[in-house]
Amino acid sequence: MTTYTKVLEPINMGGQQFKNRIFMAPLTRLRAIEPSDMPNILATEYYSQRAGAGLVIAEATQVSAQAKGYAGAPGLHNEEQMAAWKVIVDAVHAKGGKIVVQLWHTGLVSHNSLQPEGLAPISASAIKVGVRTSLRDGLGHPIRVDSTTPRAASIEEIQQVVADFAQATRYAKQAGFDGIEIHAAHGYLLHQFWAEHTNQRTDNYGGSCDNRARLMLEVIEACVKAWDKDHVGIRISPLGSFNNVDGGYNEEEAVWLIEQINKHGLMYLHLSEPDWAGGQPYSTEFRQKIRQAFDNSIIAAGGYTPEKAEKLISEGLIDAVAFGRDYIANPDLAQRIAKGAALNEQRPQSFYGGGAVGYIDYPFMD
Ligand SMILES: Cc1cc2nc3c(=O)[nH]c(=O)nc-3n(C[C@H](O)[C@H](O)[C@H](O)COP(=O)(O)O)c2cc1C
Repeated sequence: MTTYTKVLEPINMGGQQFKNRIFMAPLTRLRAIEPSDMPNILATEYYSQRAGAGLVIAEATQVSAQAKGYAGAPGLHNEEQMAAWKVIVDAVHAKGGKIVVQLWHTGLVSHNSLQPEGLAPISASAIKVGVRTSLRDGLGHPIRVDSTTPRAASIEEIQQVVADFAQATRYAKQAGFDGIEIHAAHGYLLHQFWAEHTNQRTDNYGGSCDNRARLMLEVIEACVKAWDKDHVGIRISPLGSFNNVDGGYNEEEAVWLIEQINKHGLMYLHLSEPDWAGGQPYSTEFRQKIRQAFDNSIIAAGGYTPEKAEKLISEGLIDAVAFGRDYIANPDLAQRIAKGAALNEQRPQSFYGGGAVGYIDYPFMD
């Protein structure tokens, strides 16, 4: 039996202690109640079952009504939603867990039927990338549809996005979360501004690296101001194509972006690596450059095994690992890894939408 030591060690991030380095990755499950976009009652059980993780990163959550891109994704932009999240946070804390919430604006990965006044979703530019999103059919089951071609956000709308991230951060603090994670990965709004092919703006938000990174960096600044640097992390997906939004495979630009993020002293940098989605694995050289560019903790995710995490932590290239699909299927994943126990079989057909089945019914170890 393989035994792991590094992944089971506690870690300090932003002055908080986390009991191990096996984290639960953010996982959209599309089970929120509509039209209120509140997490449903089962979410309390689902998240608290997973409190053995060193950190639970709750699913991508809208910072505004406009930020919504998928039917069934929750929000955190009003008091009612904040109160619903507080119940979940309290349940995770009661079981000795820690939980942050991932905040997103989906930008062009949306559909006008989900948008306020039925408008087209915003993005950096009015560019169709041919991506699909998810609505609900008459029975509440998820159905895949083409996204609506976006419109370019006005300066006022950009400023509103920044304000919305700040307000959602305040709600997260009020709900008792242990921090927030800015979702700047996977081809959603912040990534759409960063990626050259979705950003053809000629104002201060387009063109140079500085300009394309501006929105992301303004959001970071606003979230830090709304709480503090020790409670703000960020997820990016350098090198790889997600949702047909391609950040490019330019390592130099990716490292430059991380250096800019680093200036804000955030709690952590969370890398979503492209291997699991058909991309090339990171080279050791690229990992070393990231390590040099970022001073605080680095979380890595994407097709990891405990062995791979153990190795990269030992080599000093990452500090913690986040598991996605394995955490869906194993509520006690960290405990299983500690014991070298076998994992449950995943049931991908219930990853998105539906109710308790495939959500809170995966068995614990005996
Ligand atoms: C069902 C599902 C939902 C996901 N939702 C999110 C999300 O809300 N935010 C995010 O950043 N990544 C999301 N991801 C990506 C995961 O966080 C993770 O990076 C990915 O599953 C690869 O890790 P794994 O190989 O351990 O599953 C999702 C992945 C899956 C399979």
